[in-house]
Amino acid sequence: MTRPIIGWEQGLPVPDGHRFNHYLSCRDGRLHLDGLDLTQLFSPDRSDQGFDRTLPSPLEIVYLPIIHHQIKAMEQVFREVIEETGYEGVFHYAYASKANAAEEVIRTTLAAGANHEMSSTVDIEIGRIMKARGLLPDDRMVICNGFKAAGMAYADNIVRFKDEHDNLIPIVEDLSELPPLIASGKRFEVGLRQKSYGAHEDEAEMNLYNSRFGLAVEDLWKAADYVQAAPNLTLKMYHAMVGSQLVDREDFVKRLRPPMEIYARLRQRHSALSIFNFGGGMPVGMTLDFDFDYHAFARLLLTTMQEVCGRYNVPVPDIMGEFGRYTTSEHGAHLFRVVATKDNNSDLPWYIIDGSIMSSFPDSWALGEHFIVLPLNHLDQPFHQVQLGGITCDSDDQYPPKSSESPLYLPVESRDLYIGFFSIGAYQEMLGGVKGSKHCVLPEAYELVVDRDADGRFQFQVLPGQTAANVLHNLGYHDFDATTLV
Ligand SMILES: Cc1ncc(COP(=O)(O)O)c(C=O)c1O
Repeated sequence: MTRPIIGWEQGLPVPDGHRFNHYLSCRDGRLHLDGLDLTQLFSPDRSDQGFDRTLPSPLEIVYLPIIHHQIKAMEQVFREVIEETGYEGVFHYAYASKANAAEEVIRTTLAAGANHEMSSTVDIEIGRIMKARGLLPDDRMVICNGFKAAGMAYADNIVRFKDEHDNLIPIVEDLSELPPLIASGKRFEVGLRQKSYGAHEDEAEMNLYNSRFGLAVEDLWKAADYVQAAPNLTLKMYHAMVGSQLVDREDFVKRLRPPMEIYARLRQRHSALSIFNFGGGMPVGMTLDFDFDYHAFARLLLTTMQEVCGRYNVPVPDIMGEFGRYTTSEHGAHLFRVVATKDNNSDLPWYIIDGSIMSSFPDSWALGEHFIVLPLNHLDQPFHQVQLGGITCDSDDQYPPKSSESPLYLPVESRDLYIGFFSIGAYQEMLGGVKGSKHCVLPEAYELVVDRDADGRFQFQVLPGQTAANVLHNLGYHDFDATTLV
């Protein structure tokens, strides 16, 4: 069984110039994120990167150019494969905003040309804000997934938002979602979501699977008939999501086969149907052993679709993906200082950091998920195997996860040592919550938003972290003298 590679796995120092992946590299004993010297953020001993402030640890990094890069790279992959295979449809990139709904993220995905996928009523408000700011152009598709039965605020808000953004496509995932759309009398292009999660050999297996998402086959056909009969609705999109972080491309496309067959049969009866949306699931490097050939995936997806549609004698659809993790994982990093080391007669020394692993990266604690961990400095020193401890008093606040078999190596020299968790930009912040009060009342870290200007120079925006007073107020303490707080 292979295990994820989460960092530098040997005792020798990291060679100068070593690249860990496409955005992390070692120079002069320090870790650089796309050329940004991360240690310098804590002690600006040089000012050659245009930032001369000293920021406190822990520190969250939001690196926007990676989001832009991811979107453009995937569009390029599909452009090339469409040309190579003669596929007679186009590709639509959508950002699955549940992965990270921060303003700077949404602004960046829209600026890069992505369509927008959402899942709740507050997401509609975000769309409204972006529209008012001129950042959500009229031609951009807004895909409304999530439960939106009659009477829910989300259902009402979709109907209202339609007047502000016409290219709004509700994806029906239950028959109860159709009445508000029909009753609105507004002209909606809609999608139907298939109950398709998981690995299934055929339609019958897929249909029996225990999932609350999407329509079972019989209901899907019923929903298509209702849409057909409604004077104001048109069936435009078929939605079938089959999993998450699917690193085996053959398996990914095999899972999509039963939905493709249904799509083709649906297309025979509904001629306006033109987009096959495979939802999320596109993998991205959350650890250093990641290896996925996006071209080969796209090739297999499109050629399989050609074969299926050819058999049913229907035109191939446009393809849409809703990219959550793929878009935002790599743009986020969380940096910490090692505040203490402790032997404690354990097999491996403990390195204690000045923040919480479990509340910053809930998936590592709850699901045993792995992320990349590397030192920011002392990379030119010898390494040894360690375990990381968070500063909370919780025995689960450790990394690697308890179930993990992946070794974690960090420099033996622990004085003034900083470390970073990388590829944590998707879901972790949204699951852990933004602001509020957290486990062991640890205040939220400062955030540094980094972008590049047209000449490639870094641009920085500092968002202050929480103060002790913020945390206390959240918890209902109001009768204290804030000037006495440390
Ligand atoms: C409907 C839908 N689309 C897209 C996504 C994004 O998935 P991923 O982050 O794997 O790309 C999700 C995630 O749960 C989803 O539920």
